[in-house]
Formats: sequence, C-alpha cells, structure tokens
Amino acid sequence: MPQMTLIHASSSSSSWLSSCLDTVIYASLIWLIFRIAKLLLWSSHNDASDSKLRVPPGNRGLPFIGETLQLMKAVKSSNGVHDFVRVRRLRYGICFKTNVLGQTHVFLSSTESAKAILNNDSGRFPKTLIKSMAKIMGQESVFSAPKQHKLIRNHLAYFFSTSSVLLFIKQFDKLVLDALGSWEHKGTVIIHDEVVKIILKTMLKSMMSLEREDEVEMMQKDIATVWKALPALPIMLPWTRYYKGFQARQRIMARVEKIFSERRSSSGAHHEDFLQHLLTETPSLTDAQIKDNILTMIIAGQDTTASAIAWMVKFLGENQEIVNTLKAEQLSLVEKFLPESFQTLDNLNDMPYASKVVKESLRMASIVQWYPRLVVQDCEIHGYTIKKGWKVNVDAKSIHYDPAVYKDPNKFIPSRFDAESKPYSFIPFGQGERICMGMYMARAMMLVFLHRLVVTYKWKVIDSDSSILKGAPFMTLKTGCPIHVTPIREGARSNK
Ligand code: HEM
Repeated sequence: MPQMTLIHASSSSSSWLSSCLDTVIYASLIWLIFRIAKLLLWSSHNDASDSKLRVPPGNRGLPFIGETLQLMKAVKSSNGVHDFVRVRRLRYGICFKTNVLGQTHVFLSSTESAKAILNNDSGRFPKTLIKSMAKIMGQESVFSAPKQHKLIRNHLAYFFSTSSVLLFIKQFDKLVLDALGSWEHKGTVIIHDEVVKIILKTMLKSMMSLEREDEVEMMQKDIATVWKALPALPIMLPWTRYYKGFQARQRIMARVEKIFSERRSSSGAHHEDFLQHLLTETPSLTDAQIKDNILTMIIAGQDTTASAIAWMVKFLGENQEIVNTLKAEQLSLVEKFLPESFQTLDNLNDMPYASKVVKESLRMASIVQWYPRLVVQDCEIHGYTIKKGWKVNVDAKSIHYDPAVYKDPNKFIPSRFDAESKPYSFIPFGQGERICMGMYMARAMMLVFLHRLVVTYKWKVIDSDSSILKGAPFMTLKTGCPIHVTPIREGARSNK
C-alpha cells in the first residue's frame, strides 16, 4: 500500500510537472510572439515618425539585437572595438545611429558636438555607466553615483592636489629607476606589464601605505581580474570572467575594510596617505564611498596610463628622428636638474618637446575611444533629432583622426602641438564636468617615464604589431610593446 501511494503520488506529480512545463512553454511562445509583434510595430511606428523627423542616418540592424553581433565581432577583432564606429563614420558621416541590444546609440565626431555634450550646460546629457560595469566598480563610485558625483569628486580632489601629485611622482620615479636598473640584463622588456606594476605599487603606497610584497601581489592579481571583468557579459556563473571579477572585487573590498578597522583601532600608528585623509576629514565620505572610490581610482588610472606609455614607446620606436630631438632635450636637462634628486613638477614643466610627444601619443592612442552619455530630453544636434532615452557617444578617436582637424592624422608628429589645438579637438581625457581627475598625474607619469627611458637607454621595439588586445575595455596594445634596450652611457641611471 505505501508503495502504491508512492507510485500514485509520483505519477500525479509528474503529470502536474508536465502540465506546468506545457504552461511555461505556451506562455514563453505567447511572450515571444508578443515581443516580435511589438518590435515590428515599434519599428514601423518609428520608421513612420522618423520620416517626419530628421533622424541620424544608420542601420537599425535586426529586431531587438540591432547591430550587436557586428559590435561583438569588432570587439574580437585585432583592430579593436572602435573599428565598428570607424566603418560607420566613413559610411554615414559625423553623426550616425546604431542599435545595440535594443538601445539606440548615436555616435558624434565633431568638435561642436563634443562641446555641447561634454560640457552638458543644458543638463541634457548626464553620464551613464553600463550597469554591469557599475556593479564591478561599485554603486558609490564617482563613475556610477550621479547624485553624489560632485560631492565624491570634491573629496577625491585631495589625491590630485599639487602636494599629493608631487609625492606620488617622487615614488613613481623611484620605482621607475629601480625597474630600469634591471632591464639591461633582462632580454625582452614588455613595457605595458612593467609599467602596470610600477603604477599599482605607487598607487597602493600613496593611497593606503600598502607596500608588503605579498599584499601588493595579491592586489595586483585581483585588480587584473576586475579589469578583465569590466567589458565582460554580466553572467554570474563560476567560470565566467564577470563572476571572477566580482569575486576579486569582494576580496579587494575585504582587504581595504581590514585596513579601515586597523586604522580605527590603532592608537599610535600615523599614516600620511590618501586613505587617512578620507577617514579623518569632516564631513567624511561613507565607508562604502571610500572603498568603491579607492578601487575606482586604481582601475581608472592604472591600465589607462600604462597603455598610453606602451603606445608612446612604440610610436617613438618607429620614429627615430623624433627620438633624437627628444634625447637632445632630455640630456640637456640631466645637466640642469639637481643630481641625486627625483623629478619635480618644475622639472616636468621644463620639457616642452617631451610634452608634445606625450600629447601626440595620447592623440594617436586615444586610450578611451568614446564617451557615452544619456539623452534625458529630445534635442537637435547637427540638424538631426536626438530622442530622449537614446545614448549619445562623443567619438574622441574619430575627432583625433579627423584630417580636417589634424593634417596627416596617421603620422606621429609631436610638433603639430607647437600651436594651440582647436577647442575640443584634443580630448583624450574628456572635457567638462566629467573630465579625467587624474590627467595631470597621468601626464606627469608619462613625462617621468619618458625622461628616465630616453636618458638611460636606446631601445628597439621587437614586435611592431599594432593589434588591440581583444576584450580590453580600452585601447591596449596586444603585444604590450616588447623592447630590447642598450644603455646609452655609463652612469646615466645614477640620477638619484
Ligand atoms: C593616460 C591615462 C588616462 C586617460 C587616457 C584617462 C582618460 C579618462 C577619460 C576620457 C575620462 C572621462 C570619461 C568620460 O567623460 O566619460 C576619465 C575620467 C576619470 N579618470 Fe582618467 N584617464 C587617465 C588616467 C587617470 C588616472 C591616473 C587617474 C587617477 C589616478 C584617473 C582617474 C579618473 C577618474 C576618477 C575619472 C572620473 C571623473 C568623473 O567622472 O568625474 N584617470 N579618464
């Protein structure tokens, strides 16, 4: 009898299960048909209303997915994701629209549109961060907390004050000198990888006085995992890049939290770093704001600057006559600078040609290729109607490569910056209310690195491949710029 009950119970539960499954399948089918019909209606409705308005040219692509597949293809190509934009810009001009996963995106590549959108005087173009990226960076990150943006930015500004940058640069310079000392016997040096390590070490020290080798190594691994997760699809399964990135974020947060509680409990320990400033200033940020923004600053500053330096070394390696001019400037400065000292901001202000090399590298590398903003009110740009709810993207890379703005844009010509650039034509750090907070720090790092490299070594780029690292959130060289170095003179490194 118990057996029968069991059989009965199991057969009734299996028929219940199958009827449930049927219901789910039918409901899904109805939902799918409804979605397709809605999309078709939406598309014809929009086509009808589009014909009355002057909407930007462009291809809507397939229903719902739009041109997502083409974008994914570009992400995976060696030309990098910007190729998707470049090809359409050539086809449609300075303002075109596309559709990615149901969202209309307009790309604009004129200095006029850059001014209107990035300045955002009208308040119509707030910055948005893709939700999956915001989750990794943190909801309280300066990138993802629109209401608190000004407040957080004001608190973070301390890290970029002249005195902080000076200390930061001194530390960076010291580590560059240490690293350069070992390159002569190293064989191949991968610039990107070397610089990433140096920047991270400098940041961890100046932000949290974190110097212990094992701790730095752990952070390095976790930051790299977070970095890879940023552009990944937000699929939370244990083997996905996104999941691993999120786990790494949690580990970083736990470590920073531990430092918080140590600082709060210890009576005697005194630290003069960014974290101490954030913890003791009044009114202070919340713990969550501090943690998210420490991670944000590392993510925002580390790979961007390392990528820019790798491109700079590559561009120079391909332009020997420019290296010669640069070397003449830098060697003359070696005589002038105080021996036994690290680089100061005054020294860096004394490098006019190197500054142009840095600018030209930033123009050509265009590390962050475009800047996305949400449209919160219908408006008109270049005579086209831009609708509320669309995303507009200021295409910095196309502006930097516009032959009407820069003659011979594919050539590396630092002297093009002898003259002032046209407003909004040089925007590697963005512009307006969201302009990069670390731009002077990044420029200073590039100059310090350039100075030390040029006065110490001759170098040869041993793989001139310009392919972009697949899936990287920014324009990162796949090779990382591998070089071989030869010392240029005895004692050139002893400048410390
Ligand atoms: C060559 C190196 C760098 C490049 C090319 C770069 C580029 C940019 C760009 C284009 C933006 C604005 C994006 C937009 O408007 O949508 C930005 C924002 C930002 N950057 Fe950088 N950056 C670099 C280095 C750094 C460094 C070293 C730090 C800090 C240590 C940093 C911190 C930030 C922060 C905090 C923001 C957010 C500003 C805000 O939203 O108010 N960046 N960066």
